[in-house]
Amino acid sequence: MHHMHGGHDSERKPFNARMFMRLMRYLSPYRWWLVGSLSALVIAAAAAQAGPYLFGMAIDRFINPAESAQVLTMQERLSGLGFYAILFIASLVITWLAEYGETYCMSWAAQNGIFDLRQGLFRHLQRLGLKWYDSRPAGVIMSRVTNDVQTLDELLSAGLTTVLGDLVRLGVIVAVMLTMNARLALASFITVPPLMLMAFYFRPRILQAHREVRTRVAEINANLQESISGVRVTKSFAREEENFAAFDLRNRGNFDATVAAEFLMSIFQPGVMFIGALGTAVVLWFGGSMILRESIFGMQVGTLGPGTLAAFLVYVQRFNHPLQNLSNFYTQMQSAMAASEKIFAVMDTEPEVQDAPGAITLPAIRGAVEFREVDFAYDGEHLVLEQANLSVASGQTVALVGHTGAGKSTMINLLCRFYDPVAGQVLVDGHDLREVTTYSLRAQLGIVLQDTFLFSGSVRENIAYGRPEATEAEIVEAAENVNAHAFIERLPEGYDTPVGERGGNLSVGERQLISFARALLRDPGILILDEATSSVDAYTEILIQRALDVLLHDRTAFIIAHRLSTIRNADLIVVVKDGRIVQRGTHDELIASGGHYAELYGAQFDAESGPRG
Ligand SMILES: Nc1ncnc2c1ncn2[C@@H]1O[C@H](COP(=O)(O)OP(=O)(O)OP(=O)(O)O)[C@@H](O)[C@H]1O
Ligand SMILES: [Mg+2]
Repeated sequence: MHHMHGGHDSERKPFNARMFMRLMRYLSPYRWWLVGSLSALVIAAAAAQAGPYLFGMAIDRFINPAESAQVLTMQERLSGLGFYAILFIASLVITWLAEYGETYCMSWAAQNGIFDLRQGLFRHLQRLGLKWYDSRPAGVIMSRVTNDVQTLDELLSAGLTTVLGDLVRLGVIVAVMLTMNARLALASFITVPPLMLMAFYFRPRILQAHREVRTRVAEINANLQESISGVRVTKSFAREEENFAAFDLRNRGNFDATVAAEFLMSIFQPGVMFIGALGTAVVLWFGGSMILRESIFGMQVGTLGPGTLAAFLVYVQRFNHPLQNLSNFYTQMQSAMAASEKIFAVMDTEPEVQDAPGAITLPAIRGAVEFREVDFAYDGEHLVLEQANLSVASGQTVALVGHTGAGKSTMINLLCRFYDPVAGQVLVDGHDLREVTTYSLRAQLGIVLQDTFLFSGSVRENIAYGRPEATEAEIVEAAENVNAHAFIERLPEGYDTPVGERGGNLSVGERQLISFARALLRDPGILILDEATSSVDAYTEILIQRALDVLLHDRTAFIIAHRLSTIRNADLIVVVKDGRIVQRGTHDELIASGGHYAELYGAQFDAESGPRG
């Protein structure tokens, strides 16, 4: 699947005012910071343009005054120069302070907004049900919280201020040029159209090319990650060559994308410089003629001081940059639109399992469980559980048995309310699960899921995952009950040993024991064990059985096991076949009555005692 990752990165969407306003709502609590930033921005942009103007004025008034000007003494000219120098320094200080204020205020507002957005998104992700997660690869979900939020971050913290600053800067430059000399100003704007064309043509393509590169790099990463985590399978199937070919393909994709991006850059940058230089040439020629008071093409050009010409030469060059940025911003805005759309789509998804209005807190569980005519389908269409009826008295140990894919884990999923039934009811102590809060239900369950999952952290932290406040003695006791204490003690750092990503440095059976201890430590009202000891050796399993007999004495437990010897003593054995409950009773009753259970049991007995003659 990994080759499908990352394509999201290059998406763009047209500007959407409603979406933009929704995004802006994240900034609204920090609006005063925004106001501060914008004011500072205007000041900075204006003050930064003062320099050339001051130089021009100084030259034309005090160094090389026009003949028509009023005659000044040398003393007056010197002090005038000094005054302009001080003004220049003042403009620099103002620019510096204002830019500092602008960046600081904007970052504060943007980072707070992004922080809130990310928090909100993560909180919402945690609320979403398993059905939602079932249909999406983890990588895609992750990119909502990382890449998409990052795209918005870029827009808010850099993009917006840059574009506003550029607009102000352009406005100020144009205004100053027009006031200094309108004719020369108009002449120098001649490079604007070609610059805009260049920028609007190349910038989006360059950005796109850079995105393409990032996508390829993401693909390489995904491929690499899968190769590393799947290295055992690769080696055992001797698939190194094929993997290399797959990697080679992606690496080549990265190569092509990078070369394409560099190619565009290599045309664009010199092109922009060239057009910019043409603008300078126009100003030099046209402005120079104005100083010489010569006509160009028979047209009177007016008069100009050399200082003003010098100022113009600087302004013309300062023109290019904001123009290019504008096209940049346009593309950035489109990406941000695509990112917001995806983020808000997640935020707008209502969890399919959620607390009903007026849901009550489930009182301390006594342990009566009932399935009442339950139908269930993961996709809402193909039933995997049909008309399931089951009544379990408080304190009973119930075993669910049946072929692979029969629907055993599905029943557990419904009992934990990971999903809601399509029809019928699941009740605990007479409360329909849809009428109690999911928190109050799950807080009282102790669950060992079929695919054990340990979090990175120490063994101790993993056991205490469901009850972080547990004491050392309680943790050790839980470990002893599942016969895990001995092996944990033998680990290099005992209970402090880090278990590595997903518990990678423990054996599968050891991981199961730790998950088991984790479930027991919660002292749950109902204990649910889905193949909890399937990878543990038979001897250890018997020891756990004995401990369980004590622990489960007055506690309801659901146990799923393929090894039927482990559930022989259950109070109730429920036989599931193709989504239907086909038999129920004790081991002896079910053996006596024949049928599916007797078949299953007989098959195992045959397998264990070897082929009979
Ligand atoms: N998340 C899911 N989305 C869609 N279908 C699912 C999902 N989980 C299970 N199924 C399907 O539901 C059916 C019942 O699966 P279930 O996990 O309940 O089987 P099981 O009895 O626990 O099997 P096993 O003994 O192998 O664990 C299977 O056909 C399976 O393909
Ligand atoms: Mg299962």
